[in-house]
Amino acid sequence: MQLNTNYSNVNDSYLFSTVAKKVAAYQAAHPEKKVLRLGIGDVTLPLAPAVIAALHAAVDEMGKKETFRGYGPEQGYPFLKEAIASYYAERGVQLKNDEIFVSDGAKSDLGNILDIFSKDNVVLVPDPVYPVYVDTNVMAGRKIIYANANAENGFLPMPDYSVNADIIYICSPNNPTGAAYTKAQLKEWVNYANAKGAIILYDAAYECFIKDDALARSIYQVEGAKTCAIEFCSFSKMAGFTGTRCGYTVVPEDIVKDGLSANKMWLRRQTTKFNGVPYIVQRAAAAVFTPEGREQIAQNLAYYEENAKVIAGTLRALGVWFTGGEHSPYIWFKCPNGMKSWEFFDYLLKEAQVVGTPGAGFGVNGEGFFRLTAFGSKEVTAEAMERIKNLLSK
Ligand code: MLT
Repeated sequence: MQLNTNYSNVNDSYLFSTVAKKVAAYQAAHPEKKVLRLGIGDVTLPLAPAVIAALHAAVDEMGKKETFRGYGPEQGYPFLKEAIASYYAERGVQLKNDEIFVSDGAKSDLGNILDIFSKDNVVLVPDPVYPVYVDTNVMAGRKIIYANANAENGFLPMPDYSVNADIIYICSPNNPTGAAYTKAQLKEWVNYANAKGAIILYDAAYECFIKDDALARSIYQVEGAKTCAIEFCSFSKMAGFTGTRCGYTVVPEDIVKDGLSANKMWLRRQTTKFNGVPYIVQRAAAAVFTPEGREQIAQNLAYYEENAKVIAGTLRALGVWFTGGEHSPYIWFKCPNGMKSWEFFDYLLKEAQVVGTPGAGFGVNGEGFFRLTAFGSKEVTAEAMERIKNLLSK
């Protein structure tokens, strides 16, 4: 037997596990201190009433012989796929039901999709980036190259035709920087991918925070994307499903290479390795798209947007450089006094008992930066920013 030696090339621990371990150690040593967590982007508001009602109703169905369900379709029940298709149609994107695959979340699909691509593909990843894109490819032994995202390009790198890439990751609005591509900018990436015969793996998990029409909510709002892009989305941030687990991936039928269809391969992969999302969870997800669900979820998103404003306002008043927060639940800022990311993490934890995520954990270009999330409660966010203000204005 041989183990996959590529695993020796990934960090021992996933970024958010490392942060959690450090915080747990600090809390164990200082049980009297109240630690405020704005690190991992985990939601704090409960599921919307419309979602809870749908869950209850579905649970009742599962308890009756006539309405009980066993295995469902691996790619999702039609009622949820139709609701997702209507959501896309609102912004002018027409999807066929067979192009939508319901899953237990974007993170799983972003990792699993790699099953259908050759190990020999060169992967282009922006730096800094959500660590899952890098780690999953390192585990598979693929070559990774980076596109520099930095303060000069507003953390939105654009394609460079002298670079050859096969698989391109784009996350917009971006995790961790909060920067979001306009449709015109994304068009350049789509042109590049089509010209190179590359695929874009587009992570739209934060699309629900976009309010500006010029910004893309889906890559399929850009002409030409259906021949070169797979889109991943999730109910986690949109509707508080981080613990409930539901997402979806769109694999257009037009992605064909050497006679092989990415859509058919993904279907084959999913039907072989996945048995679908629980019926009750899919009913809960479908409720997100009902008029009541939409209204309730808009209120939750507005709550997080208020938090983002509080964080941004404090940083602005302190004269700290930052991006994000406007079309994103993340605020990405320069560590004060030239501190390194982990140095600032330790300083903030020790001096103010506030937890954030060190930018360096997202890539080399993240060094010297720090991420705060707007997904905390209103009270925790206000208190954390008060503590940060007091600490940094000393
Ligand atoms: C984050 O904090 O970056 C996210 O919560 C991670 C995720 O969505 O998996």
